[in-house]
Amino acid sequence: MSAVDEVKQRLDIVQVISAYVPLKKAGRNYKGLCPFHSERTPSFIVFPDSQRWHCFGACGTGGDVVSFVMKRENLSFGEALKLLAARAGVQLQPPTPQQEAEADERRRLWDLNRQAAEYFHRLLVESSEAATARAYLEKRGLRPETLRAFQVGYARDDWQALGSHLKAMGWREEELLRAGLVIEREDGSGTYDRFRGRIIFPIRDARGRVCGFGGRVLGQSEPKYLNTPQTPVFDKGSVLFGIDLAREAIRRAETAVLVEGYMDVLMAHQAGFRNVVATMGTALSREQLAVLKPLVRRVVLALDPDVAGDRATLRGLEVARESLETRVVPVPTARGLIRYETELDAELRILSLPEGRDPDEVIREDPARWEQLVADAMPVMDYYFRALTAGLDLSKAKDKAAAAEALLPLIAEVTNSIERAHHLQRLAAMLRTDERVLAQQMERHGRERRGRTAPPAAPVAELDLEGYLLYLLLLYPGLVESVADQAHELFLRTENAAVFAALRESNAVEGPVRGEDLSLDDALRGHVESVLSVHAQRPALSREEAEEALQTVALRLQRERLKERDRDLQAMIQAAMEEGDSEALQRYGAAVDDVAVRLRELAAMEKARALSSRRALREW
Ligand code: UTP
Ligand code: MN
Repeated sequence: MSAVDEVKQRLDIVQVISAYVPLKKAGRNYKGLCPFHSERTPSFIVFPDSQRWHCFGACGTGGDVVSFVMKRENLSFGEALKLLAARAGVQLQPPTPQQEAEADERRRLWDLNRQAAEYFHRLLVESSEAATARAYLEKRGLRPETLRAFQVGYARDDWQALGSHLKAMGWREEELLRAGLVIEREDGSGTYDRFRGRIIFPIRDARGRVCGFGGRVLGQSEPKYLNTPQTPVFDKGSVLFGIDLAREAIRRAETAVLVEGYMDVLMAHQAGFRNVVATMGTALSREQLAVLKPLVRRVVLALDPDVAGDRATLRGLEVARESLETRVVPVPTARGLIRYETELDAELRILSLPEGRDPDEVIREDPARWEQLVADAMPVMDYYFRALTAGLDLSKAKDKAAAAEALLPLIAEVTNSIERAHHLQRLAAMLRTDERVLAQQMERHGRERRGRTAPPAAPVAELDLEGYLLYLLLLYPGLVESVADQAHELFLRTENAAVFAALRESNAVEGPVRGEDLSLDDALRGHVESVLSVHAQRPALSREEAEEALQTVALRLQRERLKERDRDLQAMIQAAMEEGDSEALQRYGAAVDDVAVRLRELAAMEKARALSSRRALREW
């Protein structure tokens, strides 16, 4: 929960507003004289149920507790929140000076790395020293435009070249060390360049920031690759090489292909297979999958056949299952419905490479073959069936038991009962064993698994639609304009409205947009992070799906809002009747009519949308 949420939860709007405006009970609600315009009869209403206020008189404004204090005290969001937090006894935590310093350092390191990448690239393209490197890359079949797209570079065979260059540009030695670009001499007499006489591959994160480098030798010497060590902006196990150039293609192809090496990615992209990224030789990690998650469901792992069978790789696959396939959540589908309790249907496939070949070679020799291999990639369960029974003699009792022992825990992980039954039948047939016996044994694993799973997700009624809407826009900021006209009706919570405004202001096109990307008060940055993290477990949505979900959720939210307004007004009418206040009765009566008109308009829009999406489905 963000600080904003916590403050709001602890305060009651009636109490807060009472300190400024004398309020009188009117049915379930409270009324008073509007503090924002002068009036003699009270048309300012506070709704304890929805924790909102509204003036039905001349100014017609409304909002939540934060916007009230902002308006009344003439404060910024942050100032109002501070005041309310003090009242609620909530400790607001500004980023500590240390956190600020760390964020600042990361920004500097990205900048430093960018300049180093530019330096290396210029050398590769222009310098005579890089002639051998250029020839080598050409021999490997890489074209100039590919080298440019990946900003491939060259590090001179010199101990000081990069260091001197960067220091001349004003960087401090200490920063070069922090970035891992130079190494400290053992005798303490200064530093020397880490990368010397190597071809350089800048490693960029999803947002194109250079976080580290890989450097390949030209000849045969070892190590073949040197990489940036762990730094505040580089963790080899959590980045995917090529992700910044691959993300659009991954979305479009609805598939990400994971390979191991730099060269594989370059060659794939050059051949037009742009949905390819690399794990840089490490075992696939949870963090790497987290990078893909907002983009895609289907992930194809291109594995070296020798490695494919070994335990480490199988563990990697388990990580993949864990981080993509968990959680039962209400999911807005492409068809625009909010599905209740639907599984996250990530799909992992294994591509088996031909013996002794890596993707780079396959693609260079025969791009069509690569395409075929990707198309033929095996669903992960099929792969397990094969890999875990390889070398067993399934006519022998011991081997049957071993196969069951290996596969049943995996089958038990499958949450969809039809799929699970399917795998079980298949195993029974394969082992020529009674399915019931296997089912019984699997029950045991099932119980273990259920013991471990997270509690069921909140029912859909508790899904915070407003927050979800904001989440979709943070993911795909390009969609901001499509709801800009309705924003004032959609984002009723001041914090969400403020984030929306900043998001719109930022003109961001690439998501996910983080708090630090927006020009916002710290508390609001924290709010952005909390919105992102609340929804982090959701399945990936393509841009089209997000757009669809956005429209569906926006319509639904509008409808709920109008109905709520209608309920509030009915309550006010009731109270006005009891008091015999005919003026108020007339005012609320007119407002109820407005709401009815809006609801009819909305119903017409929803109907039109349902029709067009049905048509779209048919065409599809
Ligand atoms: P490979 O040995 O398959 O390298 O290692 P490659 O990318 O295919 O390069 P070429 O084709 O031989 O030129 C796969 C990946 O493992 C990491 C690198 O990220 C490499 O791309 N690796 C490999 C290292 O980090 N260090 C090494 O010494 C070797
Ligand atoms: Mn290779």
